[in-house]
Amino acid sequence: MRRGLLLFIIANLIVFGIIINYLFTLITLLFEDCSADAIHPADLPAPNSEVNVGINRPQYIPKILHQTWMNETIPEKWRVPQQSCLDLHKDWEYKLWTNEKSRDFIAKEYPWFLETFDNYPYPIMRADAIRYFVLATYGGIYLDLDDGCQRPLDPLLSYRAWLRKTVPTGISNDAMGSAPQHPFFLRVIQNLQKYSRNWQVPYVTVMYSTGPLFLSVIWKEYMAEAKTDDEKRVRILMPDEYNKKPWAFFGVYKGSSWHQGDAKTIFWLGQHWLLVTVLVIFLAVSLYTCGFCLYRRISARRSPRARGYSPVATASVWPWRRRSSGSRDMVEASHKRYDQDEV
Ligand SMILES: *[C@@H]1O[C@H](CO)[C@@H](O)[C@H](O)[C@H]1NC(C)=O
Repeated sequence: MRRGLLLFIIANLIVFGIIINYLFTLITLLFEDCSADAIHPADLPAPNSEVNVGINRPQYIPKILHQTWMNETIPEKWRVPQQSCLDLHKDWEYKLWTNEKSRDFIAKEYPWFLETFDNYPYPIMRADAIRYFVLATYGGIYLDLDDGCQRPLDPLLSYRAWLRKTVPTGISNDAMGSAPQHPFFLRVIQNLQKYSRNWQVPYVTVMYSTGPLFLSVIWKEYMAEAKTDDEKRVRILMPDEYNKKPWAFFGVYKGSSWHQGDAKTIFWLGQHWLLVTVLVIFLAVSLYTCGFCLYRRISARRSPRARGYSPVATASVWPWRRRSSGSRDMVEASHKRYDQDEV
């Protein structure tokens, strides 16, 4: 029995180590405040302010605005935000990626990806994937249709790549900019196949295969390598400049469009994806703990010896338990009982 228990503990530690290792990037994401790569507010002053920074800055991102919709018929409610962006960027190229155009593009430029692309179980996953591919290929700025523009995006062209931070933590994929062939977006498209998995829960499948969670994990891993290299660096547009300040870049049109049933829930989940992820992890760890407790109860019923040793086992798997007042007494008491059993 003692040997079995030891094996069980070792197995536990290995499983635990694998879980922590697997989730490490996610855990570090929780504590990522983006401050190292944030675009400084002073670099993005109000449009008509005296400070004319940026006028002589280099332009890395081409003047292309990318958006996606299933076909050319954009619903009434999104024509207002769409038009607000078109009006402010008359000298930009505009590309609307419909389902048909997206598939043609992948088939022609990235045939190795077509099978994955076609087999995504939810249309939103194709809408997620295509934006990474077009940014990697043409460069430009991608915007969700419900992000209306409040000022020209030209100041954002002087970074090689940027993503936007969400509150309280993490990044999103609804507004992104990149120079063509930027190493970050190349890495993103190279990882899509690997991350394409069915996680049974649709929300998790979408978020972790193509959505913001996938993008955040790739970004976090990428950052560790690229942090000092200015050509590789991905800058972060902070919430103030995204939509909080009066002269922020984007206006919020989301209120009107997401107000019914499912869409509302999915939108909420999209905004709080990190919270949801943490809850899921918490649930998984709780289940694991329950499984362990169940094992203890079963093994305790089977043999009195096992009962004697189980508190020790608990202490080694859950080190923090040692701190609780009763447990050491329990360990000692159980040793005594074990001695008595032997006698
Ligand atoms: C676009 O899709 C919508 C919804 O499926 C449909 O009602 C509309 O007729 C389509 N428009 C075109 C031009 O195919």
